[in-house]
This record gives sequence, C-alpha cells and structure tokens, in this order.
Amino acid sequence: MPSKILNSLRSFMRAAVYKAPLRGPFRDLMLRLEQAAPSRKPEFWDQQLAGEFQSYLGGTITVEGRNALVAVMLRHYVKEVRAVLDVGCASGSLAKVLKQSQDVDYTGVDISEFAISQTDPADGDFFVSSLDDFSPKEGQKFSGIVVAEVLYYLDPASAVENAARLCSYLDFGGVLVVSMKNDVKSEVIFRGLEDRLQWVGGIAFQEHPLRPRFRTYKSREYPAYLLGIFRENGAPS
Ligand SMILES: C[S@@+](CC[C@H](N)C(=O)[O-])C[C@H]1O[C@@H](n2cnc3c(N)ncnc32)[C@H](O)[C@@H]1O
Repeated sequence: MPSKILNSLRSFMRAAVYKAPLRGPFRDLMLRLEQAAPSRKPEFWDQQLAGEFQSYLGGTITVEGRNALVAVMLRHYVKEVRAVLDVGCASGSLAKVLKQSQDVDYTGVDISEFAISQTDPADGDFFVSSLDDFSPKEGQKFSGIVVAEVLYYLDPASAVENAARLCSYLDFGGVLVVSMKNDVKSEVIFRGLEDRLQWVGGIAFQEHPLRPRFRTYKSREYPAYLLGIFRENGAPS
C-alpha cells in the first residue's frame, strides 16, 4: 500500500484514540496499554539507542537543527540563561551547543543508562532517571527546562502533568521549552499544555530533502517539529 495511504490510515486511528473523549473502561484500557508500552521501559531505550535509534544521539540535521533552535529561543526569551535542565537529553548534545555562546550550568536527565554513558561529563551533571521520577536538588532552579521529543512517549494526561510539574523548578523569568513532532498525540499534548500554561512563542521546522516547499506536512521519515516556549500562568516575562 502506498505510504501516503498508510500514513493517513495511521493518523486516522491515532486521532480516534487520542482525540475521542474516552470514558470509563475504554479510557482505563487505553491508559493501561500506554503504561505497558515498551518505550516506557529503560531497557527499550538502552537497546534502541545502541541500535536502530542511534541517530537520536546526535549528528543529524534534525537533532543539530533542534539544538541550535533551542539555544536561540532560550537566548531570546530568557534575560540570562544560567542553568538549563534537559530532560530526555540522550547524549547531551544540546550542552555543547549552549556552551558555544555562553557559560551555562547544564543538567541532563535520561531514562537510559546507555544514553548517559554517551555523554561528556565535562559538559555538566548527568542523571539516569525517568521524567516522572526526576526532581532536582532541594532549592535548585533553572532558567530553561528543555523537554525535546520525549513527552509523546507518555500518555497525554501525564505528559501535561509532568510538564507543569517541571515548571515549578523554573527560576524567575525562566521558560519551559517543549519540542514535539507533528502527529495527533503531540497535538493533543500541546493543546493540554496551552490550557495549563502560558504560551510565549514557538517555531516550526521540517527537513525538506526532496523539494523546495514552505509547507510542513505529516511524514514519518521527515517529521515536522514544533518547538514551543511556555511559562507558568501568571509568571513574569
Ligand atoms: C527521541 S530522543 C530525543 C533526544 C533529544 N532530547 C533530542 O531532542 O534530540 C528521546 C530521548 O528521551 C529519553 N526518554 C524516553 N522516555 C523518557 C522518560 N520517560 N524519561 C526520561 N527520558 C526519556 C530516551 O532515552 C531518549 O534518549
């Protein structure tokens, strides 16, 4: 079957699952299925990052492009970027990019021990922990918290809940940076974040290897990404 039709079918099914106002037993079943997904387990990530998903560790146009945009957005929206927390940091490639332009105190967290073994300890402090379990040292605050390409591995409600919880570790004037690829689940999570937090600004990007086009489109091979900046509701800019 042509991949365009398969992609549309996939989008339709995901829309039915994530956008439908599921209640009662269906909702519980969905939640249980999400929680049992292989991508919720550290072993999955250890294995995939050492194999098929090796490109997530860095060195691609997408990862390096996202790192560069995160650095630009942080510099633009935060007066002084001092401490940055990167949740789902993979090899910590963002640290090197941030440190090119300023002295930043970088903390990276990842569920995968393999990912953390690929980081450079000279770049900051690194911890093996899942997003849901992570809390910083008592009183530690960050001027930027980055959650790039991680939230859609959680169910939408806990993704929003955890992102809002992370915001409580922001310093005065700090921002939460969320990057997600263009699919139905990410849309639902972005909408939840928009209801819960203050949208500050964003930028969308997509690699276009085939034709010069302005439009972004849904693609599994070359997804479009939206990088969004949020503050806690009522937080000063
Ligand atoms: C798609 S990669 C994104 C890496 C990097 N943030 C980027 O934007 O290129 C997802 C990363 O998140 C990590 N991860 C997945 N689920 C996680 C969770 N629940 N808590 C913390 N890290 C998680 C994976 O081990 C992997 O390194």
